[in-house]
Amino acid sequence: MMTTLSGRSVLLIIGGGIAAYKSLELIRLLKQRQAKVTAIMTKAAEQFVTQLSVASLTAEKVYTDLFSLTDEVEMGHIELSRSADLLVVAPASADLMAKMAQGLANDLASTTLLATDKKILIAPAMNVRMWQHKATMRNLSVLKADGVRVIGPNDGEMACGEYGPGRMAEPVEILAAIEAHFAGSALPLAGGAATTRALTGRKVLITAGPTHEPIDPVRYIANRSSGKQGYALAEAAVALGAETVLVSGPVNLPIPPGAQMMPVETAAEMLKVVEAELPADIAIFAAAVADWRVASTADQKIKKGSGGLPDLKLAENPDILKTVAGAAKAKRPKLVVGFAAETENVIANAKAKLAKKGCDLIVANDVSAEKGVMGGDRNTVHLVSASGVESWPELDKSEVARRLMEDFARRLGAKS
Ligand code: C5P
Repeated sequence: MMTTLSGRSVLLIIGGGIAAYKSLELIRLLKQRQAKVTAIMTKAAEQFVTQLSVASLTAEKVYTDLFSLTDEVEMGHIELSRSADLLVVAPASADLMAKMAQGLANDLASTTLLATDKKILIAPAMNVRMWQHKATMRNLSVLKADGVRVIGPNDGEMACGEYGPGRMAEPVEILAAIEAHFAGSALPLAGGAATTRALTGRKVLITAGPTHEPIDPVRYIANRSSGKQGYALAEAAVALGAETVLVSGPVNLPIPPGAQMMPVETAAEMLKVVEAELPADIAIFAAAVADWRVASTADQKIKKGSGGLPDLKLAENPDILKTVAGAAKAKRPKLVVGFAAETENVIANAKAKLAKKGCDLIVANDVSAEKGVMGGDRNTVHLVSASGVESWPELDKSEVARRLMEDFARRLGAKS
């Protein structure tokens, strides 16, 4: 049976630390899913696990020495780092993280990490105090800024007897992070020369956030929407070189640098601004538009008391997505994308929405309370189009945005 990892090549760098024994389990899980695993061990790692056990599990030669002549003939460190699809450092010791942050290259592991042109995932593991030390925290932020992905560490009892953050993520958690990486990377990864400016010369229009529908001067009807996903999409569109217009309801987020911000309050205003911004190449409707507004807004604050409960008559708001998807050809963006926030039957409802709205694609997600998507930083999405359903693993909203935008760029390319 094919898996997300079938035929993928992972270069596992095992650092020094008691958690190195868990890397053996990680290798087993990766092999079970048909990944090819090649391992490099640091000198310190060899104090905790043996080359023989790693070689037996990977069924590959284990690399340890930077200056091994035979290795340089068979496969040099450059080739070793380039022939993999992903580099995983587990456990990533404080020392290894420091070397990576500094760009040191004084053994095979650090040299390979410096020479690679592939994504790197690290699973830190160390004593609590070492983890919390300013130097490690500084190195961590440098690594994150360099695009290194980080999984863990987890809180827990440590081998040294202390309690707190520092335990390496469990092998199944690291596996999930590796699978998540590959699940989206059938699409080329950002940063790759071919895709970085895939939307140069294109206009991308994005709606985001909630709308506020006034009841009176102080009260309004609204949806729970942080705007995070829409703003992350705008950032991703800018990163791909698009002229990016962000039509946003009231949110508490910084304007993505490079995007043209059009602040609005109500659905009616949002529709007006969106229509004025057409034509566009891609229109993405990530806003949580209120379905209803109060038919006639009170000019003064409605008072509690003698008159009983206010009799609020509602009127339906315009459906912005449906309006744009149904626009005449000259105005209709080539790719119209809607979002479906559902609390049940996510895919079935998204399919129905695709037909009802007349858009090209629905990005569906489960916003039931237990998923914590609303206002949270992570999201699990399904792409529903006429050609089928593609489900992605749980990812940060910024990562979802990056991958979505690359996917949209690809669809746009394929259409014209
Ligand atoms: O119908 P529903 O609100 O579930 O549809 C969600 C999708 O439609 C989202 O993409 C949302 O931005 C868009 N929408 C809209 N105008 C509305 C209601 C929803 O653009 N009035």
